[in-house]
Amino acid sequence: MPSLLIDNATLPDGRSGQQLLVVDGRIADIGPSLAAPADCSRVDAGGWLLSASFVDPHFHLDAALSFGLPRVNDSGTLLEGIALWGELKPQLTQQALVDRAMAYCDWAVGKGLLAIRSHVDVCDDRLLAVEALLEVRKRVAPYLDLQLVAFPQDGVLRSPNALANLQRALDMGVDVVGGIPHFERTMAEGAESVRLLCELAAERGLRVDMHCDETDDPMSRHIETLAFHTQRLGLHGRVTASHVTSMHSMDNYYVSKLLPLIAEAGVHVVANPLINITLQGRHDTYPKRRGMTRVPELMAAGVNVGFGHDCVLDPWYSMGSADMLEVAQMGLHVAQMTSQAQMRRCFDAVTANAAALMGLDRHGLAVGCDADLVLLQARDPVEAIRLRASRLWVMRRGRIVARTPAATASLDLPGRPSTVDWTLQR
Ligand code: FE2
Repeated sequence: MPSLLIDNATLPDGRSGQQLLVVDGRIADIGPSLAAPADCSRVDAGGWLLSASFVDPHFHLDAALSFGLPRVNDSGTLLEGIALWGELKPQLTQQALVDRAMAYCDWAVGKGLLAIRSHVDVCDDRLLAVEALLEVRKRVAPYLDLQLVAFPQDGVLRSPNALANLQRALDMGVDVVGGIPHFERTMAEGAESVRLLCELAAERGLRVDMHCDETDDPMSRHIETLAFHTQRLGLHGRVTASHVTSMHSMDNYYVSKLLPLIAEAGVHVVANPLINITLQGRHDTYPKRRGMTRVPELMAAGVNVGFGHDCVLDPWYSMGSADMLEVAQMGLHVAQMTSQAQMRRCFDAVTANAAALMGLDRHGLAVGCDADLVLLQARDPVEAIRLRASRLWVMRRGRIVARTPAATASLDLPGRPSTVDWTLQR
């Protein structure tokens, strides 16, 4: 593969006028004035922001784009969503699952989203969704890293055959052990599910990613149990707690004990701001709780926090377009992370932090990393979030795989410029 020189890029750390040399699909050098081979091809970044590609650390690809099947979620609650998914499951076909997932992956690539961790429901004895998403993982591998989590949606203990199905899914090649302790019948069963699933992951040398305490109940404390077993089994850095919305409603004294335990165990946390701002607080009158986990406090405690999209056009959420900048923007608002430094950390939550929890070692903007890049019509990460900036081009392993025209409007105003974009001109 011929080498490639990317000219005139601005990087998220603020360096402008940078060149990146790409050799064999990887970043070989970065600097203001590189000695490139005479035969290398060139692409001009035009001074725009060049970032490592977006990463979604929490998604449900088996349900995506199924909106309206077999009906719409009227109450908008998590529990009606789970019930609706239960109605849809018997009607699923492998072909329909593959077709919808492939369509979503196309949306993702267009938005510069080149790595997704997707949960896949293992509570259907046929494991249709597992077979379908394994097939999709294979098909999209040239342009998108798809990591799959064996997710017992109806509870690994509560649902008959769920544990056996989960193990079958892992045997078939699913990457990560999932769970949903707050959906088990009792707190004790929830804690037991965390223990057995962590032990299963330890035995198999796999990572763990549980839906953990996705509830407004402040007494839902499975995150404590998850941190304990992570510590006990030496799974540091390999376990993720997704959602953890109960932490929003916990009392501050308990949280002050909990945060260091999560940090000590090296448990990653994923917040899903678009989904939890709509699903949580549904039993409240006013004031209504926001329900998202305590993102700035977790980050301040040294916990790695990623933001996930979670759902797009499915039984739980009727919006979405695979846009991780929309996710970052909502996270920023819900968490009130409005300082310049905090807004940049929200950008990290959909890039570097998400990649770290997925174990994507070659993601990033450093020598040796894969040239999986996105050129954004913005000058810095904060502007990219504000504008949900156009992805001027998307690169996978050194090859441009998607292009989007710059966002602009033609004006017809007396005495004013005839075109406008929304970047801050300096
Ligand atoms: Fe989820």
